[in-house]
Amino acid sequence: MKGVILAGGLGTRLKPITNVTNKHLLPVYDRPMIYYPLETLAGAGLKDILIVSGPEHAGHFLHLLGSGKEFGLRLSYELQDEPGGIAQALGLAENFADNEPVAAILGDNIFEDDLSQAIRAFAADPQGAHVFLKEVSDPKRFGVAVVEGESIVEIIEKPAKPPTNLAVTGLYLYDVEVFKIIRALKPSARGELEITDVNNAYVTSGTMRYTKLKGEWTDAGTFDSLLKANLLAARRPQARRRA
Ligand code: G1P
Repeated sequence: MKGVILAGGLGTRLKPITNVTNKHLLPVYDRPMIYYPLETLAGAGLKDILIVSGPEHAGHFLHLLGSGKEFGLRLSYELQDEPGGIAQALGLAENFADNEPVAAILGDNIFEDDLSQAIRAFAADPQGAHVFLKEVSDPKRFGVAVVEGESIVEIIEKPAKPPTNLAVTGLYLYDVEVFKIIRALKPSARGELEITDVNNAYVTSGTMRYTKLKGEWTDAGTFDSLLKANLLAARRPQARRRA
């Protein structure tokens, strides 16, 4: 299985701190934000990882992470010329994926749970898709899942009246069908190819599975969530301690 880190977008909700750099390069406690999703994928044994970013700061990702040798990884880089949505960015990974399943992760998502077993289990039997849900207090900000028993019935992107408090977090495990699904997508009202539409294609075909997270999770696209990310990162066992 291949890994893809989606690190595009303009980080507009974090202006002015994203005026001269990319959101995913900002510090989160003791390391750059993108180290966290990189660690999530690498911790599950994935070696081949593609980083998709916008052209403005793409060179900085290369400068920071290089070939990946330092981390025991093989890193590749792809440019998303214009922000066209998370699903469009993932579509750019088709050649890289080369008919293997993919674990796609948003570059600003930080997970407390160890997800390596779930990723390894999907890699061993890659069928359909798998997402990770987390109970949140502000579901309007996220893709929100409606579940019935073991199944997801529907995912609604940023609903005005959320039917549940189960956010769809930014780690997505997909079988090889995902690129066919992306090619058939139509832009949403905001003109983007939505990852929620990809996920709903799997929901409709009855092949979407989910795991509920026990530990903390956050994204880092707003000032409040960036603060939460820093606090979460600081209490991870891997965080550097002050002397
Ligand atoms: C994106 C997805 C959303 C998901 C969230 C997780 O939202 O569209 O479904 O719940 O990431 O971080 P965005 O951060 O682009 O607003």
